[in-house]
Parts: sequence; C-alpha cells; structure tokens
Amino acid sequence: MSFDAVVIRADFPIFDRKIRDGKRLVYLDSGATSQKPNIVIDAESDFYRLHNAAAHRGAHQLAEEATDGIESARKVVADFLGGKEDEIVFTKSSTEALNLLAYAIGSAPTGNKFHLKAGDEIVVSEMEHHANLIPWQQLAARTGAILKWFEVTPEGRLDLSNIDSIITTKTKIVALTHQSNVLGTIVPLDDLVKRTHDVGAVCILDACQSVPHMPVNVADLDIDFLAFSGHKAVGPTGVGVLWGRANLLEELPPFLFGGSMIESVTMTEATWAPAPRKFEPGVPNMAQIVGFGVALKYLTKIGMGAIHKHEIELTKYALDAMSGIDSLRILGPLNTDMRGGAVSFTLGEIHPHDLGQFLDDAGIAVRTGHHCAWPLTRKMGVAATTRASFYLYNTTEDIDQLCESILAAQKYFG
Ligand code: ALA
Repeated sequence: MSFDAVVIRADFPIFDRKIRDGKRLVYLDSGATSQKPNIVIDAESDFYRLHNAAAHRGAHQLAEEATDGIESARKVVADFLGGKEDEIVFTKSSTEALNLLAYAIGSAPTGNKFHLKAGDEIVVSEMEHHANLIPWQQLAARTGAILKWFEVTPEGRLDLSNIDSIITTKTKIVALTHQSNVLGTIVPLDDLVKRTHDVGAVCILDACQSVPHMPVNVADLDIDFLAFSGHKAVGPTGVGVLWGRANLLEELPPFLFGGSMIESVTMTEATWAPAPRKFEPGVPNMAQIVGFGVALKYLTKIGMGAIHKHEIELTKYALDAMSGIDSLRILGPLNTDMRGGAVSFTLGEIHPHDLGQFLDDAGIAVRTGHHCAWPLTRKMGVAATTRASFYLYNTTEDIDQLCESILAAQKYFG
C-alpha cells in the first residue's frame, strides 16, 4: 500500500472540524497523544454496544465475546512487538507499566532474581521522561540501591563514553528511553544491551515514543522489558502494555492483588495464576483494549516502516525550515540520523507558553513546558521549550503553517 498522509488524514474524524474560529487543525502534539481513526472509535463503542460483559468471568456468550476480544488484542500486540501472547501484560498506561515493574522488583524476596539490596545499582539517563525516572528513584530510596545515569551531550545524544563505569557488576537494572519525548533522539541500544547482559542486569525500555512511530521488535533488540501506551499509537486512552520475557515475568512477583490474578486463595494466603494474568487483577479496560488491537492492526496495514519513513521526511523538512529562522534554537539532533519526529525549540526571549498560545490562535496545537523531563530541559539550559511532534497524518503543509506562524509570532512579540 502506498503511503499518502492526505488519504490517511481522512480516516481521522477530528480533522473534519475547524479550530479557533474556522481554522484548519494543525495537530503537532502526537508526542503527547495521537488522534484516533474512525475504526478505533467504532471498535470501542461497538464493544459497549454489542459485546459488553466482564472478560475472564461469567459463563455466558457476552462474557465469552469480551474475553475473545481481549485475548485477540493480546495476540495483535504480541505480533506487533515480535513477542509472545503470554508476555503481554495490559495496564492502564505505560506509566502504570513502569511503576508495576519498579514495585514488583522492589518486593522481590531474597533469592529471587530481582531482589535488590543496598549498594546494588540502577541505571537510567538524563533523557528520561519522569515516568521512567521517578519510579526508579523511589525504588532506590526504598531499597538502598544507588541510582546512576548516563549524561546527555550538548547535541542531545546520550554520552556512552563511560558505559563501563556506569553499567558495572553492581548494576541490576538499566532502564532507558528508546526515543526522547523532548529531543527526538533515538538511543542506540546494541552496546547498551550487550553490556547490561554481560553484567547480569535486565534492560528495560520506555518505548512510548518509538513503538508508535517505527518498527520495534523485542527479539531483535534483545531487551528484557518494554513499556508503551495505546493512546500514543492511534489507540484509546486507558491502555498500556508491559512486555516482558516469559521467564522473567514468571519470576517477577505480582504488584496489584485481587480477582482473576490468583490460582488459589484461603483465608490466610494465596497463590498466583501464571503470567500475564498474575499482573492483571480486576476487570480490565476491555473496550479500550479491543480498540487498541484495532489501532495496531491499522498501523500494521499502513506499515510501520512507511510511517517511520514519512516521519523522517517530515522531520528533515521541519529541521531545514526551522534552522533558517532567526533566533530559533532547536534542542536535540539537527539531522535525522537516529532521530524521530519530535522537534523542541526556543524562540529568542519569547516564553514557550506565550508562543504556544499564539500558535493555538492560528489553529496549531503544540506542547510547551518541560515535557515531564525536567532534568533534561535543565541540562539543555532552558526552563521550557515549545515542541512540535509529528505522526502519520501530518503533512509538509502543517510544517509550513507552523513556520509561518513562528515568523508572525516574532513580529508580534517584537
Ligand atoms: N509523555 C507525553 C509527552 O511527551 C505526555 O507529551
């Protein structure tokens, strides 16, 4: 199927509406959340209209259909990532997936592979979203483990020159972003994963900004855990995924307790169902999981390679156009080598919030602020940035409108 962003755009009903007094919607905030195609919206509402019942419980047709819906979605997610069905844990968000992992690791008893003791080391980077930083800070505080991190270079790449002193025989966990939500930088994983495994640690990937935008195969990457969320991948809100190697999920203790995650229960104790069920207590977000499966099938049909190629072309176009604007500073890589479609920038002395409001008046949706990556923005020497992020439905026309409005903002703010 040949890639045409204009044709794809027609699948997304939100682009039929006008914004701010009749203006065309220029949606450049997919890094925060993506828009949804009709088939995803329909799948979610069809679930409620036709199949609604509590999955994994109940002896009736609707319960069976709800269960089939979820388990089919699990297979879609597994195929999408190159994993196995029993390696897919549904959560409500990727934030929850990463917290689940940190809590579960923190509760691992002595003798368990994941048990952490004072002096063990956890490695992150300065490029992390708060969701892949704070859970590890907290885990370190609870266990006495030491938090270490890779620094970011002025160009917005991870400085891996000291990899052997950051990842050591004391390291138990290496938890890294795959693609920075602020800089767009894609982290090269080969040496990192090899070093992590050489010292016997596990490699955890926050893939929220990569899985929706490029082909990601967990077996090829040779990682141990990965988290991403549905709403950034044209799917509904309320669904996240924790993928983990089957043998590791088996060893990991559960985090939340309740119905459906057990094998047997007495008044004083309980045993757990096999993974992934032991991590999924309670009635799941069924309509959203079903919609999520449809979303990933939609992306697969278009082709993740084609989506990535389109975004790289848009990013190159944006970097070229924006580099020509006086006093505009792009944070992060200035070329598309190992870089995705999030472009953060400052514009002279204009505060990003003022610029964001000005762009919004022109119908352009961007994100402003520290983007939940405060240590990173601080390291880059700014308090806040404006971020334009691209997806499969964006066109060069969107970027032209962004650049025109940036120039207009310069005039307006003097
Ligand atoms: N993590 C999302 C972002 O980067 C919300 O905007």
